[in-house]
Amino acid sequence: MPRRPIVAGNWKMHLNRSAAAELVSALRGGLDGLAGIDVVLCPPAPWLAETADHLRGSSLEVGAQNVYWEPHGAFTGEVSAAMLTGLVDYVIIGHSERRHVFGETDEDTAKKLDAVLGLGMQPILAVGELREEREAGQTPAILERQLRAAFANVDRLPEGFVVAYEPVWAIGTGLTATPEIAQQACAHVRRIVAERFGDGPAEACRVQYGGSVNAENAAALAAQSDIDGLLVGGASLNAEAFTAICRAVAATKGS
Ligand code: 13P
Repeated sequence: MPRRPIVAGNWKMHLNRSAAAELVSALRGGLDGLAGIDVVLCPPAPWLAETADHLRGSSLEVGAQNVYWEPHGAFTGEVSAAMLTGLVDYVIIGHSERRHVFGETDEDTAKKLDAVLGLGMQPILAVGELREEREAGQTPAILERQLRAAFANVDRLPEGFVVAYEPVWAIGTGLTATPEIAQQACAHVRRIVAERFGDGPAEACRVQYGGSVNAENAAALAAQSDIDGLLVGGASLNAEAFTAICRAVAATKGS
């Protein structure tokens, strides 16, 4: 079975309410019904409900950028997986900004993954090495550590599970990984998934690349055999660019 491509737009902490609504509307107009691909919008938490309402009845899906593992309680500022149930389809877990700006650990990532899987939502598990780690030849070991730690309590992967390989040095820097470097890392992700869960789940697992993706480089990245989609930051804030990226991936993977 071929893997269904998936492109997600991570808006991070950008766009006020009206700008977010305008973008959702433009993207629904440009991407609703695009065949053979999953398209996911991940707005800031306050706009999730409105975005979900606006996209109801369309083929576009909604994702959260983060989650907390406890179901409820005195955790000021946090949003639980239970609160996201029914509202979003996907949840990004372990994004490099969570890890490196907010100090999230591999153990935190594992707890978040368990909470999201337990409630039947689809995680987008983000992993990736720092520039120093790549330069020291540690990329394979870092990916292995991050994935094995995240999977500590996971027995089986759900259908369509998503891992996003996002090298930290490529995020928001304009320094995109070459398609070859991205392919090599995404293939390594798949190998680690195979070692942990077996060949079937690894073949079914969708691996995205993320880091300075734009309308110009999307097709070459998507042409790689182990890259099943893209996780897009900056360019996902621009309707024209994100639409072009989704179309490029659908065309490349569909051909
Ligand atoms: P940029 O596309 O802005 O580099 O961000 C990538 C990213 O972090 C998506 O999650």
